[in-house]
Order: sequence, then structure tokens, then C-alpha cells
Amino acid sequence: MVCGYGGDVLRQAVVEGAVGVFDSGVGGISVLQELVRELPHEDFVFFGDSAHNPYGEKDPKEVLALSCDIVDRLVRDGCKAVVIACNTATSAAARQLRAKYSHMPIVGVEPALKPAVLAYPHGRILVMATPLTVRLDKFQTLLHEWGGESQIVTVPCDGLAARIERGNLDDPDMIGLLQRLVGSYAGSVDAVVLGCTHYPFVREQIRAVLGDVSFFDSAAGTARQLRRRLDQEGLLARREGPGNVRFASSCDSPKELELYHTFFGLA
Ligand code: DGL
Repeated sequence: MVCGYGGDVLRQAVVEGAVGVFDSGVGGISVLQELVRELPHEDFVFFGDSAHNPYGEKDPKEVLALSCDIVDRLVRDGCKAVVIACNTATSAAARQLRAKYSHMPIVGVEPALKPAVLAYPHGRILVMATPLTVRLDKFQTLLHEWGGESQIVTVPCDGLAARIERGNLDDPDMIGLLQRLVGSYAGSVDAVVLGCTHYPFVREQIRAVLGDVSFFDSAAGTARQLRRRLDQEGLLARREGPGNVRFASSCDSPKELELYHTFFGLA
């Protein structure tokens, strides 16, 4: 595992031909776990921009600039494809990144509203996401397309990604924060869409607050989409053995390194 923001450190982490994966911090590791499961022969380089977390409470222009800087580095250092493992960055930057790097797969994520609506066509569905994700057009369009007969309740979760970023997910303050954010819906929703890649790490804590609900996130769908795109472009790894997974972070400290490792180990 490699940790640090300097161009050199990220460059050291990137293996020629790897898939670059990034998020505003540890959240994207929930997507990375699925990517490795779906594509075990690929090399992955994960970059967490923890120094600039949370993206979801920033101006979209700032998220665009941060995302472009990261992808420029990943591509320059030899990545063959990029996964934007962040709903907020996908909403703020995917279009521009795909236009700039039209020759390579740039795969984004979006809240898994469609599968939730298909599973609960007349149900009450809570969508938890960052304030910026719910504000931007991409989510509003999704809502328009897939709202259907379901009753969708959108909850912008201020402070939740930043809290998850600090680890110690079982501390009582986490339940306190979730109570404030979604406690009023306890016992009254069928399904929860985890519309931020940080949130799958507190699935059980959310269940403790809301009661028995079904969860939907986009990690597995994103992994399948990456497989499809690599296949289309003839870019799938040809080796028999497992690939490498390397980490880099904009927070250059051993504690951060340990935290990334811990999150990657969480099933
Ligand atoms: N994990 C990110 C997402 O999926 C954003 C968290 C944040 O930085 O606010 O939206």
C-alpha cells in the first residue's frame, strides 16, 4: 500500500495498465471490493482524496477541478481505465471527463434507484446521498425517470461521509448522527438506496436506526459495467493469476494508511 498526495507517490502506486479508482476518501473502497471480486485478474490503483473530503458539501466547480486533477494524474501515469467511485464526483465531472478521455473507459456510479423501484414498485424508498448529489441534474433526471409509483424520500446526509471518513464506525455518536438524519423514518420505509459510496460501511448502523429494510447500492452494477467496457475495448487483463491492489491517499499519514487497509478488509 502506498500513501501520499505528491505526484511521485501517486506515480509510484500506479502500475502501467492498471484500472484507476478514486473517491473523496474511503467510500470508494466499497466499490473497489466489488471491482476486485468481479475482475480478480486486474491491477487496481485506488486514490482517496481524504484531504479534500467531503466533496458532497462543496461547490460543483471545485469537485470538477479536484476530479479532473486526479484523473489527469491517473491517465498520465498509465491507467487504462478509470472508475469514478463517487456519486458526487460522477454527477459533477463524468461528462467532462468522458469528453476529454473519449479513447478510454471512464465508468461512474449513480444511486441505485432503478433496482430499488423495480423491487418495490409501490413501496416507500429512502434515498440517502450527499447534499451535492441530490442537488445536481443527474440525480433529478434519475428521479424523474424512475420515480414511478414508488414514494421516494430523498435525504441529503450532511456530515455523514465526513464522519465515516474518521472510522470507529461503532461509536455511539454514529448512531446519534443517523438518528438525526433518518430517525424520523424508522419503521416506515421498505428500502434504502445508499447513494454515496461511503454509506455501505454503515449499513448495519442504518438498519439499527430504521428497522428491517432492504438496501440498494451501485457497487456490483458498476463492477459489471467496468467488465463490459474493458471487454468492448479489448482491455481485459490476460493473466491467469490475481492482480495487485494498491492504495494512495491525499492524506499522507500512517494512520490514514491503516484506515484504508481496515476499510478494504470490511466485507
Ligand atoms: N463517496 C462520495 C459519494 O459517493 C462522496 C462523499 C463526500 O465526499 O461527500 O458521493
